[in-house]
Amino acid sequence: MIEEIEQLKREKNAVILAHNYQRAEVQDIAEFVGDSLELARRAMDTSAEIVVFCGVDFMAETAAILNPDKKVLIPDAGAICPMAQQLHADELMAMKRKYPDAEVVLYVNTLAASKALADCICTSANAREVVNAMSSSTVIFGPDRNLAYYVQKATDKTVIPVPQHGLCPSHHQIVLSDVLRAKEAHPDAKVVVHPECIPEVQDIADYIASTSGMVRICKAHDSGDEFLIGTEIGLLHRLNKEAPAKKFFPISNTAVCPQMKMHTLENIALALEKEEPVVSVPPEIAARARRAIERMFTI
Ligand code: 13P
Ligand code: SF4
Repeated sequence: MIEEIEQLKREKNAVILAHNYQRAEVQDIAEFVGDSLELARRAMDTSAEIVVFCGVDFMAETAAILNPDKKVLIPDAGAICPMAQQLHADELMAMKRKYPDAEVVLYVNTLAASKALADCICTSANAREVVNAMSSSTVIFGPDRNLAYYVQKATDKTVIPVPQHGLCPSHHQIVLSDVLRAKEAHPDAKVVVHPECIPEVQDIADYIASTSGMVRICKAHDSGDEFLIGTEIGLLHRLNKEAPAKKFFPISNTAVCPQMKMHTLENIALALEKEEPVVSVPPEIAARARRAIERMFTI
């Protein structure tokens, strides 16, 4: 299967981009594995004609928006991020009417139609910088309430979450008692978590960062060190691969994103062979969403 995929990639001038939460075997056949921000950049930098995007819908849509001339394929079109579904355009519009002077910063984990209504997009890697770079003193921020909490701690601006309780179901598997239990078992370990974790978990962590930021933090530590990892468990594969002399323990084994796991070697080979499913965004939505994404890159 791997040989077949490699051959199809060569024949069709295709690359595979994979998010840090992908299955181990999918990460291993990808040209690049990274966080949302890195994947968006990589999609723009590649000279390939076909991008096979192994991530969830909003990531593949972002790649398609940034690369109108390339064919972006998502091996399983059912890889739909539940958080991105939580922000509805009418709720966002109502918030904009309520705070007419506030700028709107949306997490990249939103659908293209919502991005089209934003002033700027952010990812977990740059959310604090993006919000601080806005000119308004009040910022409407969605859909992740936990990321809003993380951002609020680093800004004097008023951050208004929309919707009230946007969240990632996978990161909500990680609760304070899990962290306390893991710390008891590994008292010398550093706690490294994603900002989609709940406030109680963020508050007890040594480090909070994007998925690739978490990898960089762990790699910068001395060999032999131990880490308690608070994010989707797919990140453990990359951590173990890139820092084999260190020990990594998931804080919760149930922090699994089922949608991220939908891409397999089988459906990647099929997508390359048939050149579908193609990710497409209506041009008028793509043009407006692109403006908000490009503003993030400028910041
Ligand atoms: P990163 O951008 O940190 O990889 O996060 C994306 C995501 O969906 C986390 O759940
Ligand atoms: Fe969406 Fe959470 Fe899965 Fe990330 S881990 S893609 S936020 S459901």
